[in-house]
Amino acid sequence: MKTILITGANTGIGLATAQTFVQDGHHVIIACRNPAKAEQAKQHLETFNAGKVDVIKLDLNNLQQVKETAEKILQNYSRLDVLVNNAGMMTPELETTVDGFEKQIGVNYLGPFLLTMKLLPLIQKSEQGRIIHLASMMHAMGRIQPEQFKADQVKKYNGVLSYANSKLANLLFSNALAKQLQGTHVTSNALHPGGVDSEIYRELPEWQYRVIKLFLIPPAKPAELIKRIAFSTEWKNKNGQYASLQTPAFRSAKAKDARLADQLHQQTLTLLAQYL
Ligand SMILES: NC(=O)c1ccc[n+]([C@@H]2O[C@H](COP(=O)([O-])OP(=O)(O)OC[C@H]3O[C@@H](n4cnc5c(N)ncnc54)[C@H](OP(=O)(O)O)[C@@H]3O)[C@@H](O)[C@H]2O)c1
Repeated sequence: MKTILITGANTGIGLATAQTFVQDGHHVIIACRNPAKAEQAKQHLETFNAGKVDVIKLDLNNLQQVKETAEKILQNYSRLDVLVNNAGMMTPELETTVDGFEKQIGVNYLGPFLLTMKLLPLIQKSEQGRIIHLASMMHAMGRIQPEQFKADQVKKYNGVLSYANSKLANLLFSNALAKQLQGTHVTSNALHPGGVDSEIYRELPEWQYRVIKLFLIPPAKPAELIKRIAFSTEWKNKNGQYASLQTPAFRSAKAKDARLADQLHQQTLTLLAQYL
């Protein structure tokens, strides 16, 4: 029985992934911001009468909260085999995290970065630790602008581009971490899950959602890919890779830029130093 932590596992890709792992008899910790939704997901997962499900509260919008959640996990578990950084959001409006960051970079990148770095010692206790990041093909439109991470420093807000920036940051984080972990028994890989029918499109106008829904795949598809990345022999020695459903695993030049990845990693460590 492996111990697997999935963020944002109360719905969408996270819930489908939790279901796949629970059905295989694993111990799944679902880390969610909304306790009522998390409890509902737990009840659903327990209907399979397999594996084990724990719930932990995690709000990626609040760095102090992320730190406290990570510390609770470090206290309560003796090892972590798989971390799936799944939780994410999209918003067309310029919004702010509790710490004053633009919300998409804060929730999609800074919070997961902090959680991962805090949990790394626990993942290193696993015989084969796996860190899996939900990035997106949208990273190709992204740019890294740490000087605009704070919401009050954003010059011209565009919700789609800001989401793309956060997904590029996810991919660069995965790469920088993979480099750091090279030669160890822990790997870091990222994926584009395809266009997936989930609640992430909740902010879209109804007619737009109806159109794109025609091309969306069910969350069970990326859940299978995440399981392969975590446990298949094909992925055993892959580190710093990027997989994609529906589209070729194309990585933009920025996403392949090792210097940019290292730079962003160092800048983020400095930015989050008080929580690490
Ligand atoms: N769906 C797609 O087509 C697609 C394509 C490319 C990449 N992705 C990526 O796949 C991942 C999963 O997306 P999804 O499609 O399954 O979306 P979803 O159905 O909207 O699920 C997102 C999950 O993230 C959680 N979350 C949002 N803000 C949070 C916060 N501040 N703290 C903790 N959890 C938070 C949500 O919690 P609540 O339920 O409480 O809101 C939910 O559990 C995301 O990283 C997304 O960027 C999705």
